[in-house]
Amino acid sequence: MLGEERLKKFHEFIEGFSKEELIWINGYLSGIVINGKKNGATHNIEHKHHISLNKRISLVFGTETGNSKKLAAQLATIGKKKGINVKLVDLSQYRLSDLLNEEYFFIVISTQGEGEPPAPAKKFYDYIHENDLRLPDLKFSVLALGDSSYPMFCKTGEDVDARLFHFGGKRIATLQKCDVDYEDDANRWFEAVLSYVNNQPVESPKPISEQTVAKKPSGKKYYKGTVLTNINLNDHGSNKRTYHIEIGTDEPIDYEPGDTIGIIPQNRKEVVDKIISLTGINADRIIQTSKISATVKELLTSHLNICYLLTSTIKKYAAIVEKEIPDNRVDLLELLQNYPINNEEQFEKVLKILMPISPRLYSVSSAPSAHGEKEIHFTVAINRFFKEQEQRFGLCSEFLGFLPVNSVLTFYVHKDKNFKLPTAEKDIIMIGPGTGVAPFRSFLAERDITGATGRNWFFFGEQRFTTDFLYQTEMQNYVQTGVLNKIDLAFSRDGEEKIYVQHRMIQKAEELYKWIDNGASVYISGKKDPMSRDVENTLLQIIEQQGKKTSDEAYEYLEQLKKEGRYEKDVY
Ligand SMILES: Cc1cc2nc3c(=O)[nH]c(=O)nc-3n(C[C@H](O)[C@H](O)[C@H](O)COP(=O)(O)O)c2cc1C
Repeated sequence: MLGEERLKKFHEFIEGFSKEELIWINGYLSGIVINGKKNGATHNIEHKHHISLNKRISLVFGTETGNSKKLAAQLATIGKKKGINVKLVDLSQYRLSDLLNEEYFFIVISTQGEGEPPAPAKKFYDYIHENDLRLPDLKFSVLALGDSSYPMFCKTGEDVDARLFHFGGKRIATLQKCDVDYEDDANRWFEAVLSYVNNQPVESPKPISEQTVAKKPSGKKYYKGTVLTNINLNDHGSNKRTYHIEIGTDEPIDYEPGDTIGIIPQNRKEVVDKIISLTGINADRIIQTSKISATVKELLTSHLNICYLLTSTIKKYAAIVEKEIPDNRVDLLELLQNYPINNEEQFEKVLKILMPISPRLYSVSSAPSAHGEKEIHFTVAINRFFKEQEQRFGLCSEFLGFLPVNSVLTFYVHKDKNFKLPTAEKDIIMIGPGTGVAPFRSFLAERDITGATGRNWFFFGEQRFTTDFLYQTEMQNYVQTGVLNKIDLAFSRDGEEKIYVQHRMIQKAEELYKWIDNGASVYISGKKDPMSRDVENTLLQIIEQQGKKTSDEAYEYLEQLKKEGRYEKDVY
């Protein structure tokens, strides 16, 4: 028992701590009691906390009717409360090549049909049965859901367990079969696997000098990457196409959540081939432009802009072919068709007046801590460019949208010093409709894996819930596991009235202002016009009304947030 004075001090001390911090303090104090020595306890506990944060733990689920999913989400929440971050993934979304890199891999999977895998997990099930893999570093365990009234009780779980063992994986807890009342068995299984994870030392990180860190860029550092995944996030029936693209490299990529990736697009092969056949030029002829010496084909494919030419370029073209050409911006192919060149030499001159292909920037949607440092993700909307300058921007989005898996592309990282997460205990408010979601996927992944205690609130909007809720499963998982404390959605075409994120902000004005006034950072990402302007006006309105301020004071308040780095925008 504490005396009155000490109790008062204790209450003063814990005032303002979050629930997670109190849970941590609870564990910390128990550690002191158990170890009987303050300093030793401090060391041990911090070390242990660190251990689980540094391990890569995936909890995947395969479900048909939702039981395995519900259970896996509950288990992930339990893990989080114990300070152990697990990456929760639906097997229908699981990237099969990731299996080779898993460290701790826990599977919750049901059996369906007559001993068959659940439909969403069939791709994974077939993959591990049709391939012979070597997984000597994998530490795994399977939780099988089933119903003992079926003759093939928990057959899929048994099959998965047997295959992973066959691949050389280490079974860290025996296969746990569960009947329809699965809760208790599942909890015991999870306790067992977590206790194993916690008692394993983490591999000590190599000293910096031994790591293969990408060289500090002198100028821009270009990476060669291979496309690992390229999927359209919108469902059938959507007006949009938004691609989630994952790129893998052989070397670590120097980037952080909040950065952008610069992609150098390539011109379409059919167009390049048409230009070559139309001009009759030898595709292998080497040409020296002011910047580079390369073959005609390489220049046209990877270096020179042939789309939506500048009016100054069109003027130069007109001078070469000695024709009057209106200065409307058109593609090179159109010019060549309408105002043909006379010979190869003329075309060589044309090649020398073309501008280089300019890179396109996209917000990074991954985090090295969560997705590995040799991987980078981004999100590309095809219609992102249609509104303003269709042809100029169509090149890169079309190029990326049709980029097949395994194709190679060049990219660089553009650092954004300002659009960065605050310290772990701070709250954040993220407003990112459409592709504005990209940096927030990255923020959430980082906060999830690092166990950041600050609260996270996300406002997302698109046209329709059923077809356009980008990264829906991931966001729902974040809600279930408590990483996302709040999510507010606005689907503009689902109801009679058009609802946008700013309308949701107004509905939550009181709470929103409280978060901001208590120190939360506010981020806006996505279209500059009209979205970011509408959102900013709404923010001012909320500050004015909830903070009982004049409009000038509200403006000053927002300015102050900017100065403190608590109001950041990534808009385009
Ligand atoms: C059509 C159907 C077929 C099933 N077949 C089997 C079976 O062969 N073996 C088994 O152990 N359980 C079987 N089950 C039971 C499920 O595995 C069990 O209900 C489980 O909790 C479902 O988990 P899920 O919601 O994650 O898919 C079957 C269930 C249904 C609806």
